[in-house]
Amino acid sequence: PVLVVDFGAQYAQLIARRVREANVYSEVVPHTTPASEMLAKDPAAIILSGGPSSVYAEDAPGLEEAVVTSGVPVLGICYGFQAMSQVLGGQVARTGQREYGETRASVTPLASTLFADQPEEQVVWMSHGDAVHAAPAGTTVTARTPGAPVAAFEDDERRLYGVQWHPEVLHTTHGQQVLANFLRRGAGIDPTWTSGNVVEQLVEEIRAQVGEDRVLCGLSGGVDSSVAAALVQRAVGDQLTCVFVDHGLLREGEAEQVEQDFVDATGVDLVVVDARERFLSALAGVSDPEEKRKIIGREFIRVFEQAARDVVRAHEGEGQDGDRHHDHPVKWLVQGTLYPDVVESGGGSGAANIKSHHNVGGLPEDLQFKLIEPLRMLFKDEVRQVGLELGVPEGIVWRQPFPGPGLGIRIVGEVTAERLAVLRRADAIAREELTRAGLDREIWQCPVVLLADVRSVGVQGDGRTYGHPVVLRPVSSEDAMTADWTRVPYEILARISSRITNEVEDVNRVVLDVTSKPPGTIEWE
Ligand code: XMP
Repeated sequence: PVLVVDFGAQYAQLIARRVREANVYSEVVPHTTPASEMLAKDPAAIILSGGPSSVYAEDAPGLEEAVVTSGVPVLGICYGFQAMSQVLGGQVARTGQREYGETRASVTPLASTLFADQPEEQVVWMSHGDAVHAAPAGTTVTARTPGAPVAAFEDDERRLYGVQWHPEVLHTTHGQQVLANFLRRGAGIDPTWTSGNVVEQLVEEIRAQVGEDRVLCGLSGGVDSSVAAALVQRAVGDQLTCVFVDHGLLREGEAEQVEQDFVDATGVDLVVVDARERFLSALAGVSDPEEKRKIIGREFIRVFEQAARDVVRAHEGEGQDGDRHHDHPVKWLVQGTLYPDVVESGGGSGAANIKSHHNVGGLPEDLQFKLIEPLRMLFKDEVRQVGLELGVPEGIVWRQPFPGPGLGIRIVGEVTAERLAVLRRADAIAREELTRAGLDREIWQCPVVLLADVRSVGVQGDGRTYGHPVVLRPVSSEDAMTADWTRVPYEILARISSRITNEVEDVNRVVLDVTSKPPGTIEWE
C-alpha cells in the first residue's frame, strides 16, 4: 500500500481518498506508528500529511529519520513537508505571518516530476505559519509562493518530494495531478486499484474467511448494506440470507425497491419482516429525539434477533432434506462498516456524543456472531463503484444517505401513522422534483422534516387553513462531517413548495433550512 501518515489534521483521510482516485491503494496510519512497523508493511510510497502543529511546538509530532532514509519514495505535505525538511537538514523558520487560503504558486514544470505537464502559475490552497527557508542539500526547489520561498522541493535520486500547500483539497487546481505525478513518475507505482480488481480481491477474501459457514446480513436498503450483501452474495452465493426489517419509518417506495429491484439484480435470499405495528406502538407518546433513537435501535435489534433465530431454524429444517450446509450454523453477520469508521475508531479520540447514531444495517453484539466487514477498507465513493461493478441497481447505488431511524427522526414531535403518511408524501414530492432537476449528485442529501407540533394559519381557496410546516434541508457535503446548505435554484424550490402545499393535506407552508453544519447538524433530531 501507499501509507498516509496522519499528523493529526483532518486531511489524512482526504489524501488517502485522492490517492485511491489515482487508482492506487492507500491506508492511513497514525504518526505514532514506529518507522519499523510502517516499513514492515512494505509500502510502495509514504505520504506525510499536514497537521495542526508547528515543528517548533514542544509536543510536535516527530518524524523518524528512518522513514525518509529507507529508500521508500516519500511525499511530504504541509506539516509533513516541514518535518521532512528538518530531518533532511533543511531550515524551517517561523515566518510570523500565516498564509491561509488561496494563494498563487510559481512552479518550474520543466525541471520537475511533481509539476510535469502543468502550467507555471497555479492556484493552491495554503494553511501554514512556518515555512521552509532553505531546502535540504541535494534537493531542487521547484515552487515558490509569496509567503514560502521554498514551497516545494524534489530529489529524483532519493525519490523524496514535498509541497507546502495542500494538493488534496479541491481548491488546489492541479493538486490531483501533483499526487498522480508523485505516485506514477516519482514512485513508479502502477495504477491497478480499480473497482474490478477490488471486487475480485474482496470476493476471494470473503470466501477464505467464511468457508462453508452460513452468513446473515441485515439489509437496510441503503448503499452500504446493499453493496456489502451483493459482495458476499457474489462470494458465497446461497450461504447468505438477508433480513430486511420494515419498521414503517421508510420513505415511499423504499421497501419495494429492496424487495424487488435488489433481489432481481442479485438473486439474494431475502427475508422481509413487517414490524410496522411494533415500532409504532413502541414510539407512541414519545417526542424526545434521543429517546426515539434509543427505542428504534432497541426494537430493531429485537426484531432482527428474532428473524435471525427463524432463519437458523428454517435452515436446520432444510438440513434434514440434505441441504449441503445443514451442519454449518449461521456464524457470520455482515456489517457495512466503511473505512472512515475504521480510521476514526483507531484514532480512539473521545468524540462527544452528539447523537446516538443507530445504523440499521446490522450490529447487535450479543448476537454471538462473528462480524464480516467486506467494505471496511473502502470509502463511500469506492463502495458505489463496487456496487455498480456488481450490478446493484443504480437507484440503490446512488441513493442519498438515509438515517437508520428513518422518518422517525424527521418528525419533530410524536411519531404517528398519520404524520408518517404526510411526511412520506411531502418527501416523495421533494425527491421527485430534485431528481427531475438533475440535482441528485450535487446534493448530498435532502431531509424533509415535518414540524408536527407547529401550526400556522394559511389560506387556500376561500378558506382558512391551520396546518403544519415542512422544512427542506438540502445539503452539500463530502463526508457528512461538515456540510453547507445547497443553493437550489428558486424555480425548483418554488415548484416543490407549490406541489407540497397543493398535494399534501395538512401542510400549508414549506420553509428552507439555510444553516451549515456546524452549527446545525444535517438531521433535525
Ligand atoms: P447529522 O444529523 O449528525 O448526520 O449531521 C450526519 C449523517 O448521518 C446520518 N445519520 C444517521 N445514519 N443512523 C445512520 O445510519 C443514524 O442514526 C443516523 N443519524 C444521522 C445523516 O442522515 C447524515 O447523513
